[in-house]
Amino acid sequence: MNEVFAWREAPIADFAVIGHPIKHSLSPKMHTAAFIALGLEASYVAVEVLPGEVSEALDALRIKGYRGINVTVPHKEEAFLWCEETTSISQRLRVCNTIDLASRRGTNTDAEGFSRSLADYPFSSKKALVLGAGGSTRAILSALEAEGWDVSLWNRTQSKAASLLERFGSKAMLVDQPDLADNDLIVNTTSASLSGDRLPVNWSKANPDALAYDLAYGPSLTPFLSDASSFGLAVMDGRRMLMEQGAAAFEFWWNREAPREEMMAALQ
Ligand code: ATR
Repeated sequence: MNEVFAWREAPIADFAVIGHPIKHSLSPKMHTAAFIALGLEASYVAVEVLPGEVSEALDALRIKGYRGINVTVPHKEEAFLWCEETTSISQRLRVCNTIDLASRRGTNTDAEGFSRSLADYPFSSKKALVLGAGGSTRAILSALEAEGWDVSLWNRTQSKAASLLERFGSKAMLVDQPDLADNDLIVNTTSASLSGDRLPVNWSKANPDALAYDLAYGPSLTPFLSDASSFGLAVMDGRRMLMEQGAAAFEFWWNREAPREEMMAALQ
């Protein structure tokens, strides 16, 4: 667990992740491992920021000399509004998870992190079912659509999925049942795993060559992945995406290749 600083008492440091809550974030460990691997003299801390205080906190950290900030739940939209310059992907998603403080330039590396986490996977075709319509879903839809996937979206509250598709101009097909048949990839973006809940999916209908992907992760398989695995599907949890979004953030700040192996090892 991280030592957590309130933003008004943040120490002099180079980088930070801000969120609420923030004590379980793995970003300090992962980025510190990257700095050590490359012999960079830099520090990275966890800073607690309450909703509504993001803009004030970013101003204060900038004045303190922080170079870069990662932003996690629930602050990515407020962070986007603070930035003076944003990349096209963050404009499309209207959220920032990575900021260069001096230039007030922000980006979002979640979609890239998700795409890269799948880059080496041997899919035979590109048909995906995405479950959920929460904070992380839009980055996943954007990544899949950019790579030509045919995407269906299911959410427990269908109206929320419909408004997400409309708001972000996604072409995914809204479905009222999470039908697994024919899909090569099934992505769980809901927070059901975090509360130990199961989604109403019938794994016996899944293509046995499909990959089940849960953005959540824990010390053991999430209920979603454990069920998928018992039906013979390959599984992937959210750790690789976490590493890849962190590696893309590192590259945004340092303009050099991130040490992915060491960053991944820090998450085990
Ligand atoms: P927010 O909705 O505030 O962005 P989130 O944690 O990013 O919060 O999103 C929660 C997602 O997980 C939603 O898609 C939610 O479904 P609803 O829109 O129907 O609430 C989904 N979710 C959480 N618990 C779930 C459960 N037990 N079963 C199915 N879906 C669940």
